[in-house]
Amino acid sequence: MYGNDPISIALWVSIAETRFGHKNFDHIGNISSNVIILISFIQYLAAINNNMNYDAFSHGQIKSKLWLCEQIEPYLENANVIILGSWYNILAFMMLTRCQHKYNQITGIDLDQSCAPIANKLCDAWIVDQYDAKVKNVHGFADNADYFGVSLVINCSAEHFTDQSWFDKIPAGMLVCIQSSNMTDPAAPWLITNPSPTLASFISKYNLTTTYMADTMRIQYDQWGYDRYMIIGIK
Ligand SMILES: C[S@@+](CC[C@H](N)C(=O)[O-])C[C@H]1O[C@@H](n2cnc3c(N)ncnc32)[C@H](O)[C@@H]1O
Repeated sequence: MYGNDPISIALWVSIAETRFGHKNFDHIGNISSNVIILISFIQYLAAINNNMNYDAFSHGQIKSKLWLCEQIEPYLENANVIILGSWYNILAFMMLTRCQHKYNQITGIDLDQSCAPIANKLCDAWIVDQYDAKVKNVHGFADNADYFGVSLVINCSAEHFTDQSWFDKIPAGMLVCIQSSNMTDPAAPWLITNPSPTLASFISKYNLTTTYMADTMRIQYDQWGYDRYMIIGIK
């Protein structure tokens, strides 16, 4: 997935060159140097893949984001969106794949600095024109987000935040969309730091002047399942 674009190829060739040097390539001959480049390329892919948590593509994560897209799209026109705790910004990828014309710009903010480079790869189609990028992925703390010109704030990681201070910073009158779940387990892989065991407890954390929807989606497997909550409204 990462090896086909020119930036990746340039990067891994330069990694190979930095590590072994041009002279070494000349010395060993073409076949050996190709093997060395191949090994370096595999090491480069491993470095990216080791960083990535593939749970981001799990059925429940994707289904929850499809639900979010379906419910939020009717409220959007030329929208400037901020996604807090954006992880690999698969949500921006999905929003733009579904309805590119509804968005002016989507900015993902995550405090994990390993996320933005991977998010940039996934959202490459909307970043390729760096002067007119539709997607921006930045490393940062949600509480420091700049809401100037923003029309929608999304947080579908609310159960992974330590508190509601990020919500307090959002200006009154803003359209917001928040997801959480009924999971309460602080251990991996859930890592819940802000549990909402019921929909009512989730709703009570986020004071809205107008609520457009507050609902639950059941993610059910054979023997096990969980609830995903979502609220959409005006702060
Ligand atoms: C497990 S992930 C996302 C899960 C969520 N269901 C989703 O797919 O959107 C949670 C993310 O929130 C980020 N995060 C937690 N607290 C944050 C904060 N205060 N500011 C920015 N990002 C934050 C973490 O770094 C992590 O990437």
